[in-house]
Amino acid sequence: MRILVVGGGGREHALCWKLRQSVGSPTIYCAPGNAGTATVATNVKTPADDIDGLLSFAKETRIDLTVVGPEDPLCRGIVDRFVEAGLRIFGPTAAAARLEGDKAYAKKLMRECGVPTAEARVFGPTEQELAYRKQPGRERDESFPDSFKRGYELACDYVESRDSGLVVKASGLAKGKGVFVHQDPKDALATLKSLMVDLELGEAGERVVIEELLTGPEVSVMTLVDGRNIYVLESASDHKRLGERDTGPNTGGMGAYSPSDTLTEEVLEVVVRDIFVPIVDWLHREGVVYRGVLYAGLMLTAGGPKTLEFNCRFGDPEAQPVLARMQSDLVDALEATIDGRLDQIEIQWDRRSAVCVVMASHGYPKEFESGKQIVGLEQASDLDSVHVFHAGTAIRDEDVVTAGGRVLGVTGLGDTLERARSRAYEATKLIQFDGAYLRGDIAMRISDK
Ligand code: AMP
Ligand code: GLY
Repeated sequence: MRILVVGGGGREHALCWKLRQSVGSPTIYCAPGNAGTATVATNVKTPADDIDGLLSFAKETRIDLTVVGPEDPLCRGIVDRFVEAGLRIFGPTAAAARLEGDKAYAKKLMRECGVPTAEARVFGPTEQELAYRKQPGRERDESFPDSFKRGYELACDYVESRDSGLVVKASGLAKGKGVFVHQDPKDALATLKSLMVDLELGEAGERVVIEELLTGPEVSVMTLVDGRNIYVLESASDHKRLGERDTGPNTGGMGAYSPSDTLTEEVLEVVVRDIFVPIVDWLHREGVVYRGVLYAGLMLTAGGPKTLEFNCRFGDPEAQPVLARMQSDLVDALEATIDGRLDQIEIQWDRRSAVCVVMASHGYPKEFESGKQIVGLEQASDLDSVHVFHAGTAIRDEDVVTAGGRVLGVTGLGDTLERARSRAYEATKLIQFDGAYLRGDIAMRISDK
């Protein structure tokens, strides 16, 4: 069997590593991959967003199954294109992936099906206005600056009228960096300017969602959805803030652990009943068949679990500890999802805990330098119950060098969360590169922080 994994981060290294262990040891290709995927797969130079290039490669190489890691190609319709060409691919269609790609749409949908989420308002050009501008020759339509200005002014007026904390989110895709939490609403004015006027995140920030600030522990629930059945994977929690004790800007994720220590069976039941079931059913009624990973980022508030976001793919870095604990064959689970057979499978899990500590480049999530030599990778991987998943790495001559913001996801397993944690940190101590940054409090119990 030949499998193509699309993407080149830590999640994709974990996917390649796990898929390689499937029955019959499938041949894995990874596009574009990194220095870690190169040890378990053949890297293909095609970037993850080059859908035409990936399609040609899959046809030429007679790929049996394509697994898509990141959200961009999903939101841009890679699944629709592969399915049209008669190829098997794991992931939701563009219409289904909109749940992640358009936060304003996700909010509307949650409201319509009564899914608990933060109260929110949407500002910026309307869907019709955005669609109008996408027509050829209308990109620079004179009437638009006014409309943008109106949205921005209304957003500022709204923020000024608020007296409690709020969260500003770019409506489009921003790699986890489009969410700004403000305890003081006045601070949100600068965020609105940078998103809506200076367009610092490009099109993604033209529309914003402004929501009430919720408090409580966070948990990620990842499920496999086959259009009808919802199969809940083991829980995980990630750490999105750059700094220890959850301070500093949001990142793609500085670490994650599984299982989450915050989610009880009872709460999970409520989450499935009140969040996943209504969303999947609603999409179904709208003619959108959701197949792939459906991930809900939740906050467990005093008023019950509330949805912060939906993702249409495995979380990164959540995939690393979750896949490290998965004992069953991943190919079986992905094929059951594609074929609508999730009611017939059962996934076995390692009862141990797994903790993934991200080692990042100095400066991330802003500017950072690449090309720094990484040493100690082998010594770290040789430790018992440790997997060093690569994220932003590349091979230069014979060396492994840094090539991204998040460089490695050092993952340890242990009988308890504390043991898994010390395993992971022990391994990070063996790895060095210039400017390496990591948080020292990944998977620390809330009460210990
Ligand atoms: P998101 O990408 O929407 O999950 O947001 C990223 C992070 O921002 C979340 O993991 C939370 O830590 C924080 N966040 C998002 N929305 C809210 C909210 N309404 N209240 C408090 N924190 C939030
Ligand atoms: N770790 C959060 C995400 O993958 O979106």
